[in-house]
Amino acid sequence: MRVLLTGHQGYLGTVMAPVLAAAGHEVVGLDAGLFADCVLGPTPADPPGHRVDLRDITADHVAGFDAVIHLAALSNDPLGSLAPELTYDINHHASVRLARLARDAGVRRFLYASTCSVYGAAGDPDLSNLVGEDAPLRPVTPYAESKVRVEDDLHALADGDFTPVFMRNATAFGHSPRLRADIVLNNLVGHALLSGEVLVLSDGTPWRPLVHAADIARAFTAALSAPREAVHDRAFNIGSEINNVTVAEIAEQVAEAVSGAKVRITGENGADPRSYRVDFSRFRAAIPGFDCEWTVKQGALELADAYREHGLTQEDFERRFTRLAVLRAASDAGAVDDTLRWRG
Ligand SMILES: NC(=O)c1ccc[n+]([C@@H]2O[C@H](COP(=O)([O-])OP(=O)(O)OC[C@H]3O[C@@H](n4cnc5c(N)ncnc54)[C@H](O)[C@@H]3O)[C@@H](O)[C@H]2O)c1
Repeated sequence: MRVLLTGHQGYLGTVMAPVLAAAGHEVVGLDAGLFADCVLGPTPADPPGHRVDLRDITADHVAGFDAVIHLAALSNDPLGSLAPELTYDINHHASVRLARLARDAGVRRFLYASTCSVYGAAGDPDLSNLVGEDAPLRPVTPYAESKVRVEDDLHALADGDFTPVFMRNATAFGHSPRLRADIVLNNLVGHALLSGEVLVLSDGTPWRPLVHAADIARAFTAALSAPREAVHDRAFNIGSEINNVTVAEIAEQVAEAVSGAKVRITGENGADPRSYRVDFSRFRAAIPGFDCEWTVKQGALELADAYREHGLTQEDFERRFTRLAVLRAASDAGAVDDTLRWRG
């Protein structure tokens, strides 16, 4: 297939592009390049792509593709809360516009990167039940709310020729040539290497479903070529029950992966309403033979090796690999305007 991959220069997109290419697809990227320099190790070889803001795309950008994989977004809660209106402009309105342009151009499949954060505080009080795709959506942040709104609007676009698929990813972890250290496991591993401490600021009790970036890439690749009736207009949780873990458990796994590191749970950030254990069986049923390959422990070991190999510094950890810090620095330097568009 000819595939337009938005967000191809992000943490997940940089892992996904070569997986798609290896499956025989022709990939074209589209990204504003906000985090293109957030590289750990050698600069990755990106597929050909457009450097364009999602809000400025035209029909020409989507013409001639069989499918769109839409990853580009302000991609976490701190970014979303920094400027909620921008989050809705980019994550919601521009995403729906992209989908409409794609549908009008005859693109048949549209894989949307949603998130398990849409469940928010949806778990049972005792968390005894796993949260499935039909659970009520109770987003607790603008980021998660923007994802719910896109799902609603894309659902209305589904028809006999246009197949949106809602990929509700668990929180990602693991190595990518363009790294993020502001997601829980990657953060704990980096901090442990730099300080010898696995530092948990919550009380450690919230449940977090995790999934390796490479498993997300494999899941999207599988959904791309799955029979239409298996995926048409459906939501799928992407991850694995074995990686439904509490933050305290993640910390223990990290301490085992980084020798000498000690867990310290301060609890200073108090309770976190985002706590849920997720049921991932629907995607396995839709895509026979698919399962995630990576455990939390394997990901922690892999990432610790990558950080060591490429020499993680405190500066990189706090600035280069933290999305909010990168955007603040670009804004302070006058490189982007207050709508996060490049100047000049
Ligand atoms: N990483 C996770 O844990 C996770 C979990 C669930 C869902 N997701 C979703 O997966 C997608 C990719 O996440 P990621 O971790 O790779 O994030 P990322 O921040 O690393 O990458 C996002 C990419 O989108 C681009 N982008 C942002 N705003 C843009 C705009 N206005 N125009 C064009 N490009 C723009 C950025 O330049 C960046 O390359 C996002 O939609 C995110 O919400 C991620």
